[in-house]
Amino acid sequence: MTSTTLIAPSAKALLDWYDRHHRDLPWRVSPPMAARGIKADPYRVWLSEVMLQQTTVQAVKPYFANFLARWPTVKDLAAAPSEDVMAAWAGLGYYARARNLKKCAEAVAAGHAGIFPDTEEGLKSLPGIGDYTAAAVAAIAFNRQAAVMDGNVERVVSRLYAIATPVPAGKPLMKHKVALLTPADRPGDFAQAMMDLGATICTPKRPACSLCPFRDACEALRVHDPEKFPVKAAKKDKPVRVGAAFIAVTADGEILLKKRVESGLLGGMTEVPTTGWTARIDGATGTDAAPFAADWQASGTVTHVFTHFELRLSIYRVAIADPIEINDGWWEPVTNLEAQALPTIMKKAIAAAIPLAFKSAKER
Ligand code: ADE
Repeated sequence: MTSTTLIAPSAKALLDWYDRHHRDLPWRVSPPMAARGIKADPYRVWLSEVMLQQTTVQAVKPYFANFLARWPTVKDLAAAPSEDVMAAWAGLGYYARARNLKKCAEAVAAGHAGIFPDTEEGLKSLPGIGDYTAAAVAAIAFNRQAAVMDGNVERVVSRLYAIATPVPAGKPLMKHKVALLTPADRPGDFAQAMMDLGATICTPKRPACSLCPFRDACEALRVHDPEKFPVKAAKKDKPVRVGAAFIAVTADGEILLKKRVESGLLGGMTEVPTTGWTARIDGATGTDAAPFAADWQASGTVTHVFTHFELRLSIYRVAIADPIEINDGWWEPVTNLEAQALPTIMKKAIAAAIPLAFKSAKER
Protein backbone atom coordinates (compact mmCIF):
# COMPACT_ATOMS: atom_id res chain seq x y z
CA MET A 1 0.00 0.00 0.00
CA THR A 2 1.32 3.43 -0.90
CA SER A 3 0.89 6.21 1.62
CA THR A 4 -0.76 9.44 0.52
CA THR A 5 2.03 11.57 1.99
CA LEU A 6 5.21 11.27 0.02
CA ILE A 7 8.70 11.30 1.43
CA ALA A 8 11.52 13.09 -0.42
CA PRO A 9 13.29 10.75 -2.85
CA SER A 10 16.73 9.78 -1.62
CA ALA A 11 19.84 8.89 -3.57
CA LYS A 12 20.86 6.64 -0.69
CA ALA A 13 17.72 4.51 -1.02
CA LEU A 14 18.50 4.04 -4.70
CA LEU A 15 22.18 3.22 -4.08
CA ASP A 16 21.23 0.66 -1.41
CA TRP A 17 18.92 -0.95 -3.95
CA TYR A 18 21.70 -0.88 -6.58
CA ASP A 19 24.16 -2.56 -4.21
CA ARG A 20 21.77 -5.50 -3.99
CA HIS A 21 20.14 -5.55 -7.42
CA HIS A 22 22.58 -4.07 -9.97
CA ARG A 23 22.93 -5.86 -13.29
CA ASP A 24 26.31 -7.42 -14.00
CA LEU A 25 27.33 -5.99 -17.35
CA PRO A 26 30.60 -6.58 -19.22
CA TRP A 27 31.59 -2.89 -19.21
CA ARG A 28 30.56 -2.25 -15.63
CA VAL A 29 32.58 -2.09 -12.43
CA SER A 30 29.86 -3.35 -10.08
CA PRO A 31 29.87 -2.47 -6.36
CA PRO A 32 31.54 -5.79 -5.37
CA MET A 33 34.25 -5.22 -8.00
CA ALA A 34 34.78 -1.65 -6.77
CA ALA A 35 35.12 -3.05 -3.24
CA ARG A 36 38.00 -5.21 -4.56
CA GLY A 37 39.70 -2.05 -5.81
CA ILE A 38 38.85 -2.45 -9.51
CA LYS A 39 38.66 0.91 -11.26
CA ALA A 40 36.51 1.85 -14.25
CA ASP A 41 38.38 1.96 -17.58
CA PRO A 42 37.30 5.17 -19.39
CA TYR A 43 37.77 3.50 -22.77
CA ARG A 44 35.34 0.69 -21.90
CA VAL A 45 32.88 3.13 -20.39
CA TRP A 46 33.00 5.42 -23.41
CA LEU A 47 32.77 2.56 -25.93
CA SER A 48 29.79 0.99 -24.16
CA GLU A 49 27.95 4.29 -23.79
CA VAL A 50 28.32 5.08 -27.49
CA MET A 51 27.14 1.58 -28.41
CA LEU A 52 24.22 1.68 -25.97
CA GLN A 53 22.66 4.79 -27.45
CA GLN A 54 19.48 3.63 -29.18
CA THR A 55 20.49 -0.03 -28.86
CA THR A 56 19.63 -2.59 -26.19
CA VAL A 57 22.04 -4.03 -23.65
CA GLN A 58 21.52 -7.53 -25.11
CA ALA A 59 22.28 -6.37 -28.65
CA VAL A 60 25.41 -4.50 -27.55
CA LYS A 61 27.08 -7.32 -25.57
CA PRO A 62 28.59 -9.29 -28.51
CA TYR A 63 29.71 -6.10 -30.27
CA PHE A 64 31.36 -4.80 -27.13
CA ALA A 65 33.20 -8.11 -26.62
CA ASN A 66 34.36 -8.16 -30.24
CA PHE A 67 35.59 -4.54 -30.18
CA LEU A 68 37.51 -5.09 -26.94
CA ALA A 69 39.07 -8.31 -28.21
CA ARG A 70 40.23 -6.63 -31.43
CA TRP A 71 41.05 -3.19 -30.05
CA PRO A 72 41.77 -3.44 -26.31
CA THR A 73 42.76 0.24 -25.91
CA VAL A 74 41.72 3.54 -27.41
CA LYS A 75 45.10 3.72 -29.18
CA ASP A 76 44.42 0.37 -30.86
CA LEU A 77 41.05 1.63 -32.05
CA ALA A 78 42.61 4.87 -33.30
CA ALA A 79 45.15 2.86 -35.33
CA ALA A 80 42.57 0.47 -36.83
CA PRO A 81 41.59 0.79 -40.52
CA SER A 82 38.23 2.60 -40.79
CA GLU A 83 36.79 -0.19 -42.96
CA ASP A 84 37.45 -2.72 -40.19
CA VAL A 85 35.74 -0.54 -37.59
CA MET A 86 32.73 0.06 -39.83
CA ALA A 87 32.47 -3.67 -40.60
CA ALA A 88 32.66 -4.53 -36.88
CA TRP A 89 29.95 -1.93 -36.18
CA ALA A 90 27.62 -3.13 -38.97
CA GLY A 91 24.26 -4.14 -37.50
CA LEU A 92 24.37 -1.71 -34.58
CA GLY A 93 22.85 1.05 -36.74
CA TYR A 94 23.41 4.81 -36.69
CA TYR A 95 26.62 4.54 -38.66
CA ALA A 96 27.60 8.18 -38.20
CA ARG A 97 28.23 7.10 -34.63
CA ALA A 98 30.83 4.55 -35.76
CA ARG A 99 32.61 7.17 -37.85
CA ASN A 100 32.60 9.54 -34.88
CA LEU A 101 33.79 6.75 -32.61
CA LYS A 102 36.86 6.34 -34.77
CA LYS A 103 37.44 10.12 -34.95
CA CYS A 104 37.11 10.40 -31.20
CA ALA A 105 39.60 7.56 -30.65
CA GLU A 106 42.03 9.31 -32.99
CA ALA A 107 41.59 12.61 -31.12
CA VAL A 108 42.20 10.95 -27.73
CA ALA A 109 45.22 9.04 -29.07
CA ALA A 110 46.79 11.98 -30.92
CA GLY A 111 45.69 14.98 -28.85
CA HIS A 112 45.56 13.52 -25.34
CA ALA A 113 48.24 10.81 -25.39
CA GLY A 114 45.57 8.12 -25.23
CA ILE A 115 44.05 9.43 -21.99
CA PHE A 116 40.43 10.57 -21.93
CA PRO A 117 39.76 14.02 -20.43
CA ASP A 118 38.17 13.56 -16.99
CA THR A 119 35.56 16.35 -17.00
CA GLU A 120 32.25 16.82 -18.83
CA GLU A 121 33.61 19.92 -20.59
CA GLY A 122 36.84 18.20 -21.63
CA LEU A 123 34.94 15.18 -22.93
CA LYS A 124 32.50 17.38 -24.86
CA SER A 125 35.40 18.91 -26.77
CA LEU A 126 36.01 15.53 -28.43
CA PRO A 127 34.38 14.61 -31.76
CA GLY A 128 31.08 12.79 -31.42
CA ILE A 129 30.75 13.28 -27.66
CA GLY A 130 27.51 15.11 -26.85
CA ASP A 131 25.77 15.97 -23.59
CA TYR A 132 24.71 12.41 -22.82
CA THR A 133 28.03 10.66 -23.43
CA ALA A 134 30.03 13.40 -21.69
CA ALA A 135 27.84 13.19 -18.59
CA ALA A 136 27.79 9.38 -18.57
CA VAL A 137 31.57 9.00 -18.97
CA ALA A 138 32.33 11.81 -16.49
CA ALA A 139 30.08 10.19 -13.88
CA ILE A 140 30.80 6.50 -14.47
CA ALA A 141 34.51 6.62 -15.35
CA PHE A 142 35.60 9.66 -13.32
CA ASN A 143 33.05 9.90 -10.50
CA ARG A 144 32.03 13.44 -11.45
CA GLN A 145 28.71 14.72 -10.16
CA ALA A 146 27.12 14.86 -13.62
CA ALA A 147 23.39 14.49 -14.32
CA VAL A 148 23.02 11.59 -16.75
CA MET A 149 19.81 11.46 -18.79
CA ASP A 150 18.76 8.66 -21.09
CA GLY A 151 15.39 7.14 -21.94
CA ASN A 152 15.32 4.97 -18.82
CA VAL A 153 16.25 7.88 -16.56
CA GLU A 154 13.63 10.09 -18.20
CA ARG A 155 10.98 7.52 -17.40
CA VAL A 156 12.05 7.17 -13.77
CA VAL A 157 12.25 10.90 -13.11
CA SER A 158 9.09 11.83 -15.00
CA ARG A 159 7.19 9.35 -12.81
CA LEU A 160 8.91 10.31 -9.59
CA TYR A 161 7.83 13.94 -10.04
CA ALA A 162 4.77 13.31 -12.28
CA ILE A 163 6.21 15.65 -14.92
CA ALA A 164 3.34 16.34 -17.31
CA THR A 165 5.28 18.16 -20.04
CA PRO A 166 6.08 15.76 -22.88
CA VAL A 167 9.65 15.29 -24.11
CA PRO A 168 11.47 17.09 -25.63
CA ALA A 169 9.96 20.19 -23.94
CA GLY A 170 10.01 18.45 -20.55
CA LYS A 171 13.68 17.46 -20.75
CA PRO A 172 15.25 20.52 -19.07
CA LEU A 173 13.01 20.11 -16.01
CA MET A 174 13.78 16.37 -15.90
CA LYS A 175 17.50 17.07 -16.08
CA HIS A 176 17.21 19.68 -13.35
CA LYS A 177 15.48 17.16 -11.07
CA VAL A 178 18.12 14.50 -11.79
CA ALA A 179 20.89 17.04 -11.10
CA LEU A 180 19.33 17.85 -7.72
CA LEU A 181 19.09 14.17 -6.84
CA THR A 182 22.59 13.14 -8.05
CA PRO A 183 24.88 12.72 -5.02
CA ALA A 184 28.47 13.92 -4.74
CA ASP A 185 29.37 10.48 -3.42
CA ARG A 186 29.05 7.66 -6.01
CA PRO A 187 27.48 9.71 -8.84
CA GLY A 188 28.51 7.05 -11.37
CA ASP A 189 26.74 4.29 -9.47
CA PHE A 190 23.75 6.59 -9.03
CA ALA A 191 23.53 7.11 -12.82
CA GLN A 192 23.82 3.38 -13.49
CA ALA A 193 21.29 2.66 -10.75
CA MET A 194 18.76 5.01 -12.39
CA MET A 195 19.32 3.16 -15.67
CA ASP A 196 18.95 -0.26 -14.06
CA LEU A 197 15.84 0.85 -12.20
CA GLY A 198 14.33 2.05 -15.49
CA ALA A 199 15.29 -1.19 -17.25
CA THR A 200 14.16 -3.67 -14.61
CA ILE A 201 11.58 -2.08 -12.24
CA CYS A 202 10.31 1.22 -13.65
CA THR A 203 9.52 -0.38 -17.01
CA PRO A 204 7.34 1.25 -19.68
CA LYS A 205 4.49 -1.23 -19.09
CA ARG A 206 3.49 -2.85 -15.78
CA PRO A 207 6.26 -1.36 -13.62
CA ALA A 208 7.05 -3.38 -10.48
CA CYS A 209 6.33 -0.47 -8.12
CA SER A 210 6.15 -2.59 -4.98
CA LEU A 211 9.87 -3.43 -5.43
CA CYS A 212 10.95 0.15 -6.16
CA PRO A 213 13.25 2.00 -3.75
CA PHE A 214 11.35 5.21 -4.65
CA ARG A 215 7.89 3.75 -3.98
CA ASP A 216 7.20 6.08 -1.06
CA ALA A 217 8.46 9.10 -2.95
CA CYS A 218 6.82 8.58 -6.35
CA GLU A 219 4.14 11.07 -7.33
CA ALA A 220 2.95 8.98 -10.30
CA LEU A 221 2.44 5.96 -8.05
CA ARG A 222 0.62 8.10 -5.49
CA VAL A 223 -1.95 8.99 -8.15
CA HIS A 224 -2.01 5.33 -9.31
CA ASP A 225 -0.92 6.11 -12.85
CA PRO A 226 2.79 5.44 -13.43
CA GLU A 227 2.27 4.24 -17.01
CA LYS A 228 1.00 7.69 -17.99
CA PHE A 229 4.58 9.01 -17.67
CA PRO A 230 6.64 10.09 -19.51
CA VAL A 231 3.82 11.90 -21.32
CA LYS A 232 4.22 11.37 -25.03
CA ALA A 233 3.69 14.09 -27.62
CA ALA A 234 1.40 12.97 -30.45
CA LYS A 235 3.51 11.02 -32.95
CA LYS A 236 3.70 12.08 -36.56
CA ASP A 237 3.71 9.28 -39.13
CA LYS A 238 7.10 8.91 -40.79
CA PRO A 239 7.26 9.66 -44.51
CA VAL A 240 7.70 6.63 -46.74
CA ARG A 241 10.42 6.36 -49.37
CA VAL A 242 10.63 3.64 -51.97
CA GLY A 243 13.35 2.15 -54.13
CA ALA A 244 14.69 -1.10 -55.55
CA ALA A 245 17.74 -3.19 -54.64
CA PHE A 246 19.53 -5.54 -57.01
CA ILE A 247 21.08 -8.83 -55.95
CA ALA A 248 23.25 -10.35 -58.65
CA VAL A 249 24.92 -13.71 -57.96
CA THR A 250 27.39 -15.60 -60.16
CA ALA A 251 27.59 -19.36 -60.64
CA ASP A 252 30.62 -19.30 -58.30
CA GLY A 253 28.51 -17.75 -55.53
CA GLU A 254 29.77 -14.17 -55.73
CA ILE A 255 27.49 -11.20 -55.14
CA LEU A 256 27.80 -7.68 -56.57
CA LEU A 257 28.54 -5.10 -53.84
CA LYS A 258 29.33 -1.37 -53.81
CA LYS A 259 30.58 1.18 -51.30
CA ARG A 260 28.26 4.07 -50.46
CA VAL A 261 29.60 7.60 -50.66
CA GLU A 262 31.32 8.71 -47.45
CA SER A 263 28.86 11.43 -46.49
CA GLY A 264 25.21 11.18 -45.54
CA LEU A 265 23.00 8.30 -44.47
CA LEU A 266 24.93 5.00 -44.11
CA GLY A 267 27.94 6.89 -45.48
CA GLY A 268 30.96 4.69 -46.27
CA MET A 269 29.03 1.48 -45.63
CA THR A 270 28.73 -1.41 -48.09
CA GLU A 271 25.54 -1.92 -50.12
CA VAL A 272 24.08 -3.87 -52.99
CA PRO A 273 23.26 -1.63 -55.97
CA THR A 274 19.99 0.25 -55.47
CA THR A 275 17.97 2.94 -57.14
CA GLY A 276 17.77 6.27 -55.35
CA TRP A 277 15.37 6.24 -52.40
CA THR A 278 12.58 8.58 -53.21
CA ALA A 279 9.31 9.79 -51.75
CA ARG A 280 7.97 10.42 -55.28
CA ILE A 281 5.52 7.87 -56.62
CA ASP A 282 6.95 8.31 -60.14
CA GLY A 283 10.56 7.74 -59.00
CA ALA A 284 12.87 5.10 -60.49
CA THR A 285 11.90 2.00 -58.55
CA GLY A 286 12.12 -0.72 -61.18
CA THR A 287 14.70 -2.68 -63.14
CA ASP A 288 15.41 0.31 -65.45
CA ALA A 289 17.88 1.39 -62.79
CA ALA A 290 19.57 -2.04 -62.44
CA PRO A 291 23.40 -2.10 -62.63
CA PHE A 292 23.25 -4.08 -65.89
CA ALA A 293 20.55 -5.40 -68.21
CA ALA A 294 19.49 -8.96 -67.33
CA ASP A 295 16.46 -11.05 -66.55
CA TRP A 296 15.87 -9.53 -63.09
CA GLN A 297 13.31 -11.45 -61.04
CA ALA A 298 11.16 -9.75 -58.40
CA SER A 299 11.91 -11.30 -54.96
CA GLY A 300 9.64 -9.45 -52.58
CA THR A 301 9.95 -6.26 -50.56
CA VAL A 302 11.84 -5.35 -47.41
CA THR A 303 11.18 -2.39 -45.16
CA HIS A 304 13.35 -0.58 -42.69
CA VAL A 305 12.55 2.31 -40.39
CA PHE A 306 15.21 5.02 -40.24
CA THR A 307 15.07 8.01 -37.92
CA HIS A 308 13.37 10.28 -40.42
CA PHE A 309 11.64 7.96 -42.88
CA GLU A 310 10.51 4.44 -43.61
CA LEU A 311 12.15 2.75 -46.59
CA ARG A 312 10.46 0.10 -48.72
CA LEU A 313 12.81 -1.62 -51.12
CA SER A 314 11.61 -3.90 -53.92
CA ILE A 315 14.13 -6.68 -54.27
CA TYR A 316 15.25 -8.02 -57.63
CA ARG A 317 17.66 -10.86 -58.17
CA VAL A 318 19.44 -12.47 -61.07
CA ALA A 319 21.77 -15.47 -61.41
CA ILE A 320 24.50 -15.00 -63.99
CA ALA A 321 27.30 -17.29 -65.14
CA ASP A 322 30.33 -15.00 -64.70
CA PRO A 323 31.05 -11.68 -63.00
CA ILE A 324 30.46 -8.59 -65.13
CA GLU A 325 32.92 -5.70 -64.87
CA ILE A 326 31.13 -2.89 -62.97
CA ASN A 327 32.85 0.46 -62.52
CA ASP A 328 32.22 1.18 -58.87
CA GLY A 329 31.42 -2.33 -57.62
CA TRP A 330 33.09 -5.61 -56.78
CA TRP A 331 32.12 -9.27 -56.58
CA GLU A 332 32.31 -10.76 -53.08
CA PRO A 333 31.87 -14.45 -52.18
CA VAL A 334 28.51 -14.84 -50.43
CA THR A 335 30.35 -16.90 -47.80
CA ASN A 336 32.26 -13.75 -46.83
CA LEU A 337 29.27 -11.42 -46.29
CA GLU A 338 29.60 -11.42 -42.50
CA ALA A 339 32.93 -9.61 -42.79
CA GLN A 340 31.44 -6.74 -44.85
CA ALA A 341 30.23 -3.41 -43.46
CA LEU A 342 26.63 -4.17 -44.46
CA PRO A 343 23.98 -2.17 -42.63
CA THR A 344 20.84 -4.00 -41.50
CA ILE A 345 18.71 -2.83 -44.44
CA MET A 346 21.25 -4.34 -46.86
CA LYS A 347 21.36 -7.61 -44.94
CA LYS A 348 17.57 -7.74 -45.12
CA ALA A 349 17.68 -7.06 -48.88
CA ILE A 350 20.25 -9.81 -49.49
CA ALA A 351 18.46 -12.29 -47.23
CA ALA A 352 15.22 -11.69 -49.19
CA ALA A 353 16.98 -12.86 -52.36
CA ILE A 354 19.38 -15.42 -50.83
CA PRO A 355 17.67 -16.81 -47.72
CA LEU A 356 20.78 -18.63 -46.44
CA ALA A 357 23.22 -15.77 -47.01
CA PHE A 358 23.76 -15.02 -43.32
CA LYS A 359 23.59 -18.55 -41.97
CA SER A 360 26.81 -20.21 -40.85
CA ALA A 361 28.44 -22.68 -43.26
CA LYS A 362 27.07 -25.54 -41.13
CA GLU A 363 23.49 -24.29 -41.40
CA ARG A 364 23.74 -23.58 -45.10
N1 ADE B 1 22.32 2.12 -20.92
C1 ADE B 1 23.17 3.06 -21.33
N2 ADE B 1 24.26 3.12 -20.55
C2 ADE B 1 24.10 2.16 -19.61
C3 ADE B 1 24.86 1.73 -18.52
N3 ADE B 1 26.03 2.31 -18.26
N4 ADE B 1 24.38 0.75 -17.75
C4 ADE B 1 23.19 0.20 -18.05
N5 ADE B 1 22.42 0.54 -19.06
C5 ADE B 1 22.87 1.53 -19.85
